Amino acid sequence: MQTLDHYREVFLGHLKSRINATEPKNLYEPMHYILGIGGKRLRPLLTLMTADIFGNRYEDALDAALAVEVFHNFSLVHDDIMDDAPLRRGRQTVHEKWDLNTGILSGDAMLIIAYQLFEYYEPAKFQKLAKLFSKTAIEVCEGQQYDVDFETRDTVSLDEYLKMITYKTAVLVAAAMKMGAIVADASCDEADAIYDFGLNLGIAFQLQDDYLDAFGDPATFGKQVGGDIIENKKTYLYLKTMASLSADEQVQLQHLFAIKPVDPTDKIEEVKAYFISSGADGATQEAIEMYTNKAFDALEKINISEDKKSFLRAFGNTLMKRTV
Ligand code: IPE
Ligand code: IPE
Ligand code: MG
Ligand code: MG
Ligand code: MG
Repeated sequence: MQTLDHYREVFLGHLKSRINATEPKNLYEPMHYILGIGGKRLRPLLTLMTADIFGNRYEDALDAALAVEVFHNFSLVHDDIMDDAPLRRGRQTVHEKWDLNTGILSGDAMLIIAYQLFEYYEPAKFQKLAKLFSKTAIEVCEGQQYDVDFETRDTVSLDEYLKMITYKTAVLVAAAMKMGAIVADASCDEADAIYDFGLNLGIAFQLQDDYLDAFGDPATFGKQVGGDIIENKKTYLYLKTMASLSADEQVQLQHLFAIKPVDPTDKIEEVKAYFISSGADGATQEAIEMYTNKAFDALEKINISEDKKSFLRAFGNTLMKRTV
């Protein structure tokens, strides 16, 4: 195994060497912008780590890792349009810096480039990777649609919420890892077990994303704090709060989540006060820990050294403590 910094550095070198088209500028500049302003690179790191764990040749997984990161960035550009988000990684979102049409088309082109990157693999592997990728990409679209549909729905169950975040976020984390396993010729059982690890880690990751959206530090979070509240997102925080309020308070919170005031400052403060007084903030932290531990349980089914399991557990534990 290598250090995370090493994987990241090699990955960034690969990104620079593969993604370098320049004309037309309004198509490619936004692409270089979004891919260049950082981000944790969580998914490609997981692809590389997994390939290393099962085959000791993480370099073979660089194109699959890049495909996943380019797809992720495509999904962010379109997600920011859908969520009316002004900030991404501490910078202006693509549709704010350019315009809506630029965000749509640059995003589309990134999705296509992501697919093209699988062409670097021989046919049998290409097929396996592309098949997993297509299944995952359509699930992400389904998750994104549920997310948007829930904004204007009065009631959403916890199960519906969990399905929504599984699709919009967790399946890509899971697929990122399974791709590493495919590149490394791991057995089907191992590939499925690592998918299961990634899926639960991905659920924990989105729960944490929802938590940080309300309680993150604006100085470091990189996105608009309170964005989900502004957009009336039915997050875990919201659903847990609803479940514990009195009937009168439920009506009040429901009302707050049916409006979009021009100045959302008061709404955000009132909603956050509910999130805290109901104990939903603590319940969310518990759920994050629960799904992270569920991910760790999946590791028990995999026949790899204890060192490698520790590496993955340490990674999961670091994610739980993240502030970005
Ligand atoms: C943001 O993903 C979108 C979610 C699925 C929560 P990340 O938090 O991985 O974003 P970057 O790539 O690090 O900016
Ligand atoms: C994003 O969920 C999931 C995808 C982009 C597919 P969010 O809308 O919560 O992600 P952020 O908070 O904008 O990064
Ligand atoms: Mg968003
Ligand atoms: Mg969204
Ligand atoms: Mg979010």
